[in-house]
Amino acid sequence: MSASVSPSVARVGVWLIGARGSVATTVVAGCAAVTAGLHPPTGLVTETPMFADSGLPALSSLVFGGHDTVDCPLPKRAEALAAGGVLPPGLPTAVRAELATADAEIRPGGPLPGDTRGDPDLITAFADDIQDFIRRYDLTRAVVVNVASTEPPPTGTALPPSSLYAAAALRAGCPYVNFTPSTGLDHPALAPLLASAGLPFAGRDGKTGQTLLRSVLGPMFAQRALAVRAWSGTNLLGGGDGASLADPAAAAAKNAGKERVLADTLGTAPEGEVHIDDVPALGDWKTAWDHIAFDGFLGTRMVLQTTWQGCDSSLAAPLVLDLARLTARAHEAGLSGPLSELGFYFKDPAGEGPAALGEQYAALAGFAQRLRVERPGEPAPHSGSDEERR
Ligand SMILES: NC(=O)c1ccc[n+]([C@@H]2O[C@H](COP(=O)([O-])OP(=O)(O)OC[C@H]3O[C@@H](n4cnc5c(N)ncnc54)[C@H](O)[C@@H]3O)[C@@H](O)[C@H]2O)c1
Repeated sequence: MSASVSPSVARVGVWLIGARGSVATTVVAGCAAVTAGLHPPTGLVTETPMFADSGLPALSSLVFGGHDTVDCPLPKRAEALAAGGVLPPGLPTAVRAELATADAEIRPGGPLPGDTRGDPDLITAFADDIQDFIRRYDLTRAVVVNVASTEPPPTGTALPPSSLYAAAALRAGCPYVNFTPSTGLDHPALAPLLASAGLPFAGRDGKTGQTLLRSVLGPMFAQRALAVRAWSGTNLLGGGDGASLADPAAAAAKNAGKERVLADTLGTAPEGEVHIDDVPALGDWKTAWDHIAFDGFLGTRMVLQTTWQGCDSSLAAPLVLDLARLTARAHEAGLSGPLSELGFYFKDPAGEGPAALGEQYAALAGFAQRLRVERPGEPAPHSGSDEERR
């Protein structure tokens, strides 16, 4: 691992949509914990040597704010996560000040029940909140990251809430990351605004568990010329995400991404489905089973079964920090449009790119090098060969 948190003068905002949720709370608490040296940066790919000298903003330079529709204070939310074993027991107390600072920067989201504001008014209000945050903290830039509850796919022409926030991000001149399967920027009504904004963006839906495993195993079967006959999966999870995904329409948005990875890596969609069951007693802990039926030489029938037991927010939070840093740096380097090299992080990546994790990791390494070289107005640091650098 590289040295974790170099001090930085310039501060970068991370504006979280769904700022009081499990993932967001773990992001804020985790960033403070790593910055203070209380925990190593396990799970943060941006802290590995691959990103040394890529000019990423230091973790210590990140300032958090956001929107949410509930008002449970972040320190209290963190206590609940610690009680559920998601955060280490003493952490909410150790980083209470940082949680309280972020909490003071969370603004009411929307639309709230009975909200009479129309879409234009909501977009303006959200964009004003973000611009006010940037101004008051004198931030060099802010990245908007959607970690709000998964929405059902939109029907008709009305903009879903995730798209209202995405429009607000564009209006405020901010790069945008969609960590959820919700629509966000992918709404036809936002296409003209997106085309003229000249901003970098990335998404959709963080790849943290079952799909991560699928993006490794799918290529293995294809490369060994084994014939996958069926691939079925079941997930049990609780927490806010489990409750949201109990809605079949919201679950359909999530499952489409999980199944697409198989079609993309195997070259054809195998038989089988993915199911998500809400089990509130499990909280943020997820169990995912996959059952893969495949044929070997001369049609010999075989089966691989996998069991993944993960803590969702602990898996997701370092990815959100990585994405915020990478997207902020891309913005600084003048990049715009879909950051397809960040496909490593997503179930349904924006732009064209490979679906296999190994190839996605190679693309990410190329991106790290590109950021190293693309420093506007500055000579490229360490742009010589690896040998010269040593
Ligand atoms: N491993 C993972 O945890 C993982 C992986 C991929 C994607 N995701 C996605 O990340 C998102 C967050 O997951 P979570 O476990 O933190 O869920 P959560 O239920 O704990 O948090 C979601 C937050 O969004 C808020 N919210 C809902 N509607 C809103 C709106 N209109 N405006 C602003 N805020 C709103 C809720 O009040 C809540 O605080 C989900 O969409 C989930 O599917 C998570």
